[in-house]
This record gives sequence, C-alpha cells and structure tokens, in this order.
Amino acid sequence: MCGIFGYTGQRQAQDLVLQGLKHLEYRGYDSSGIAVQNGGSSISIEKTHGKIRNLEELLKTHPIKGTTAIGHTRWATHGMPSRENAHPHADSSSHIAVVHNGIIENFFDLKKTLEGEGVKFRSETDTEVVAHLIGKYYRGNLENAVRRALREIKGTYAIAVLSSAEPDKIVAARWDSPLVLGVGERENYLASDVAALLDHTQRVVYLDNGDVVTITPAGSSINDLNGRPVKRETVKITWNVAQAKKGGYEHYMLKEIFEQPGIVGAILSERLKGQKVRFDELTIKPARLARADKVVIIACGTAYHAGLVAKYFIEELTDLPVWVDTSSEFRYRDPKLDKRTVVITISQSGETADTLAGLREARKKGAATVSVCNVLGSTIARESEGVIYTHAGPEIAVASTKAYTAQLTVLYLLALYFAQLRGTLDAKRTKRLISELLRVPALMQRILDRYKKDRQEWADNAHDFNRRYHEALSKYVESDPQRRKRSPSGFFLYLGRNINYPTALEGALKLKEISYIPAEGYPAGEMKHGPIALIDENPWVICIAPKSRTYDKMISNIQEIRARGGCIIPVVTEGDTEIHRLQPMYLIEIPEIDELFSPLLTIVPLQLLAYSVAREFGEDIDQPRNLAKSVTVE
Ligand code: F6R
Repeated sequence: MCGIFGYTGQRQAQDLVLQGLKHLEYRGYDSSGIAVQNGGSSISIEKTHGKIRNLEELLKTHPIKGTTAIGHTRWATHGMPSRENAHPHADSSSHIAVVHNGIIENFFDLKKTLEGEGVKFRSETDTEVVAHLIGKYYRGNLENAVRRALREIKGTYAIAVLSSAEPDKIVAARWDSPLVLGVGERENYLASDVAALLDHTQRVVYLDNGDVVTITPAGSSINDLNGRPVKRETVKITWNVAQAKKGGYEHYMLKEIFEQPGIVGAILSERLKGQKVRFDELTIKPARLARADKVVIIACGTAYHAGLVAKYFIEELTDLPVWVDTSSEFRYRDPKLDKRTVVITISQSGETADTLAGLREARKKGAATVSVCNVLGSTIARESEGVIYTHAGPEIAVASTKAYTAQLTVLYLLALYFAQLRGTLDAKRTKRLISELLRVPALMQRILDRYKKDRQEWADNAHDFNRRYHEALSKYVESDPQRRKRSPSGFFLYLGRNINYPTALEGALKLKEISYIPAEGYPAGEMKHGPIALIDENPWVICIAPKSRTYDKMISNIQEIRARGGCIIPVVTEGDTEIHRLQPMYLIEIPEIDELFSPLLTIVPLQLLAYSVAREFGEDIDQPRNLAKSVTVE
C-alpha cells in the first residue's frame, strides 16, 4: 500500500526522501512523487507514474533544493495509476502539499461541496480533497488547518502536509493507517514503517489514531485532534540496517528463505525453558487462557494459512476446538464470541486493515485477544490484550516466507503453552514433542544446504519446466483452438492432506504471487469431487506426501492423477522408494520429522520452487505486480 516518507533537518532533503521511498517500495506501488519546501515561500512538486527510478531520473534533470520534504509511493485506490493521480497533491493556490495513505470514505460529498465553492480538481484521487480542505482552512497555522480539515474527513489516513508559508515544518496525522516518527539529531523523520528509518535512526515514536504531530529540525510535538498535547513514548527499535539489506543474495525473498532456520531456532531458544514454554511478555492472565472454551484464529493470506495449520495441532495437543477465518469474512458475519473465547490474530505487518477490524470486533465482544505479529509497535500488536512477537526481522520481499515459519513456530509453542495450562499433555509426550521441535532448525538448514549444492539442478529444472510450460501453451494455441477453450493449458495444482493441506494452499499462493502462473491448493481427498476433471497431461501437480498417517491415501490420490496422465512433483520424506513407481517428473525430498511438525519443513522447498520458477521467468520477484506488503485498506 502507499508509503510516506518525510524529512526536515540540515541536509538536502530530495535524495534522503528518494532513499526513504526506495525502502518503502516493497509495500507495493505504481507511482511516486515528492514535494520540497525550496526555501523562500514556495513548494516544488515532482511526480511520475511507474518505478521510483523514473522519479529519480526526473529529479536528475529538475533537482529541487531544500531541507524539508515529503515523498510518497502510491498504490492506486481512487483513479488509475498516472502522473496526475500520483501524490503529492496541492490545494488550488499550490501553497499546501499533501501525501496520504488510506481511503477518504466521504470524498464524493466533500468533493461536491468544494466544487460548489469553485474548486477545480486536477486528479481523480480522494486525497486531493484533503489538500483543498487544508487550503480552505489555512489561516497562518498549518496544524490548526490540518485539524480543522480532519474533522470533516471520514475514513482512514496517514497524511503528511507542507505549507509554503511555514518553512522547516511538516504536520502529519494518522487514523488507522500506520505512521512512525523517527527521532534524529537536529533532524526528524516520518515514515510509514520503521524499515525506511533504519538508515538514519533507531529511535522512533509510533503514532496513535487521532495524533497530529508537528516536526521541525529542532523537535516534535504531538497533539490530539482538539489540540490537546498527548505524550507518546520514544522506543528504541532492535532491527538494524543490515537486516533490511540483501546481504549478498540476489533477492530479498531468497535471503529471507535462508534466514528461516536461524529465526525458528531463536524463537525456540527464547521461549523454551527446559520442558516449559514461557511467554513472559504475554500480559493476559494465564487463568483467563486456562478457562477458555474455544480458540478463534483470524488472519489474511499467508498468515491465514499459518492459522489453518495451527488448527490441526492446537486441536491435537489440547482440548480446545479451533475455528479459523479469513479476517475479511470474519468481520462481516456475526461470530459467536464471549469472554471464554481466545481470539488469535496473526499478522506479519500488524497493520492489515481487515485483521485489525476483526480484532476490534473480538474485543468488543469480550474475547481474550492475543496477536502474533512481527512488526514491533504495530497497531494490531498495540490493540491486542497480549502480543507475541515473532522477531523475524524486517520482511522486505512481498511474498511472505520467514514470517510464515516464524508464525508457525510461535503457534506450536502457544499450543504447547495451552496444553501446559490445561494439563492436556503428559510429561513423556511433552518431552518427545519438544525434542522433535528442537530438531527443526537443523533439518530446515539441511534442505537449504542441499538447495545450495544443487542450485544448478534447480535452475536447470526450472528452465526445463519453462520450456514444457510454453510448449504446452503453444500446443493448445496452435494445434487445437477448440480444445484450448475447453481445457486448461498450464497450471499448477498443489495437493496435501491433513496438516499439510494448508501447506498446499501456501505453496500455491507463493507460486501465483511471484510467477503469475495459475495455481490452486486443494485437499487431496477432494480431488474426486471436482478438480480431477482438470487433469490431463498438462497441469503440474505438486503432491505433498511426507511420511504421515495419510501417506497411503495420498499415494492413491497420486495414482489417480498418474492414471490420467498428470505430471506429478511429489514432496516426500527422504528414503521413500515407493514414490518412484509413480514416475514423478521431479522429486523433492525433506528430512524425516514427526508429521505434526512437517509443515515447517514441507513449505521450504515449495518456497524455493516458486522462487526458482519466477526467477527463470524473469519476474520481479521481490515486488510482484499489484501486490502490497501491508494491506492497510479494506
Ligand atoms: C503472501 C502475503 C500476504 C500476507 C497477507 C497478510 O505472501 O504476504 O498474503 O500474508 O497480506 O499480511 P499480514 O501478515 O501483514 O497481516
């Protein structure tokens, strides 16, 4: 989603803002722009459609001097991606410049009123009304004008505003869209997330809903919408610049895949004390969790898949029934929750709008709320009664990898914690489970080491796949146009059963996100109820079949696919000989592990598969089209 970066200080602002915007690229965007207070009493705006390098090129020929500036990466909501719709937007007199992340819900009404007053709009965006309203109310005090304008606005926003009449000052505000203040020495910053601030400072202030902040090189002040001062804590963030860099890897995604063993290991050693799980930071009273009679998990996308896996193991290890819902569905039905329900919200960014709305709904209904978040100080983390951080470091690639396995690890521990509180596991089983869980980081590392060793083979297979894929497409196009209409020409089916059914969903999501190849995850047992109609020689079927209680059933499903000519790519446990009889096109092996923990391993080669295919196809792996890292609008 949109990204905001602001700077005021002693240094030239243009390049600092460009650098800040580059750190926000991963959030997803289609255009970018900058407004600089260029001394005297004017503001210069440059903006353009496309990548930040286009803006950079533009600024090479039209550099703007000045030490206070705001910049923006836009992810289109109202109006096509274009130069006109890119931010910043100015009021009619061009004395006010605004960047905005969020959605102004009453923008049609506001626009109509402003047009009735003679205002001419230059873009199709909702944001432009904010600039005109601030311009309308400006009487020599920017903060007052911003507050006055915000009183008329309904919706979500993080905004940053410049006035040509007030040099060295940025006024910003937030409501349900993230905004962080970065505290420097004789300079201050604003950004949509901390990753953009790490080059400059680790001291930040997370702004809250209703906060209006004014920054100058000398300092900052925060007031509420009525102008009353509010106190916010300055916190030191633990992430560092190196974590937000590629560190020699070709892509952030690959780097993040390789970070997984370390992250999982760190989570386990931090939370496991002998045979006991400890969540010292969890502020919810253990008695409240011990009294719970059900668990509801809400999340979106990859985090939702982590929730689906958790349902299997929480139900296996405890006496608690578990429901899992995508946040966007949860919030529009009438879920039956009460004070004996524990609602777990899972979110890497901690800012996903639907998950946040679900969390608020759960709190309203009196449920105990625990969030599993990665970003420190994020809104979901702050609004939950209890938070467990995954401490996975900044996840920059849009396709989530390390956040997923970190979420799973925390959830496994949470399941053991529930079991501990409720006495549902005996000491012997607890010991066995914990020692198995502790093997995971080394086994993950083994998969990754093997990938490193066989890297060329992975690349060759991806190349071979590319050839087959395009042959399959052209076969249908050239030789049999009628058939092409009726038969799928190249797609992936991911099949799994039981606790690895969500792995199938997550594997398919990874592939479609970054390679744009249609991919569907399905419970293998459901094949006969529909998807088998798609099978001929063309789909590639990834069969997740590690050693498990459903292995034989999985083999039968694979046989049914082979009998219809489907190409299979099984993910099996090392040493599986039976699978060779089914003549897989490629074979992926994982080390042996208790079925319960196998999702932590089976997903790793599927992440690598998606990565290898997207790389072979030459796609923009870290920033796939149309996607945003942090979905802060509904
Ligand atoms: C997929 C992906 C998304 C996110 C989803 C939730 O690779 O990254 O599906 O998992 O948008 O985001 P968070 O976890 O930030 O709430």
